[in-house]
Amino acid sequence: MEVIRAKDVWKVYPDGTQALKGVNLSVNRGEFVGVMGPSGSGKSTLLHLIGGLDKPSEGEVFLFKKPISPMGEDELAEFRKRKVAYVFQFYYLLEDFNVLENLLLIAQLLGIKDAKDKALELLEFLRLSHRLNHKPYQLSGGEQQRVAIARALISEPAVILADEPTGNIDWEEGRKIFELFRKLNEEKGITFVVATHNPDLKPFFHRIVNLKDGQVVD
Ligand SMILES: Nc1ncnc2c1ncn2[C@@H]1O[C@H](COP(=O)(O)OP(=O)(O)O)[C@@H](O)[C@H]1O
Ligand SMILES: [Mg+2]
Repeated sequence: MEVIRAKDVWKVYPDGTQALKGVNLSVNRGEFVGVMGPSGSGKSTLLHLIGGLDKPSEGEVFLFKKPISPMGEDELAEFRKRKVAYVFQFYYLLEDFNVLENLLLIAQLLGIKDAKDKALELLEFLRLSHRLNHKPYQLSGGEQQRVAIARALISEPAVILADEPTGNIDWEEGRKIFELFRKLNEEKGITFVVATHNPDLKPFFHRIVNLKDGQVVD
C-alpha cells in the first residue's frame, strides 16, 4: 500500500528559489527510504511537503492516497498528529521539563490515553528508563535524540520522517539511532523516510532517492 506520493512536485519559495523541480516519489508501507544529496539539494523541502508541513507550488502530494492541496489547516494538522511524525536534527525538547514530562506534555496535547504507561514503555524500549527525571541539558546528544524519537512514537505514527536525525551526533551514537530506526521499521512496521547528506549511512536504507538541485537523479 502506498503511503506517500509526490507527483511532479515543484516548490518555489517567495524569493524565487526553485527548491524542487518536478519531483516524483512513491513510498510504500514498511519501506525504509533514504533521501540523499548535498546541502541545498532540496531534501528538507521535500520532507516538509510529504509531512504536510508545507504545500507544493505545483504538482500534488498524496498522504495515504489523499491529495493535500484541498486540505485545510485542521485536516493537515490531524495527519501530523495521528499518522506522520517528524524527527529533526535539532531535538526541540522542552528545556525546563524532564524526559518523562516532555513525553507526557505532548501526549496530553494529542489527547492520548494511558499516556504514562505508554511513555514509560517507550522510554524503556529506547533505553532511557534511567533518565526519566533528567532534563535535556543533562543528556548526551544521542540521548536527547532518543527522547525526541520517543516523543514522535507516542502517537503511534504509521510514518516517521527524519531530517538529518544524526546531524549533531557522533558516528557511534548516530549508528545506534539508525539501528533503532531499523528495529522500529522491522518490529513495528513503521515506514521511514530519512534525509541525510552523510554517505556513510547508505547501507541502512532499503532504497535511496538521490536529489540534486531539486531533482531526482540516478
Ligand atoms: N524558506 C526558504 N526560502 C527561500 N529559500 C529556501 C527556503 N528554504 C530552503 N530554501 C532554499 O531551497 C533550496 C533547498 O533547500 P533545502 O530543502 O533546505 O535543502 P537541503 O535540506 O537538501 O539542504 C536551497 O537553495 C535553500 O537555500
Ligand atoms: Mg536540510
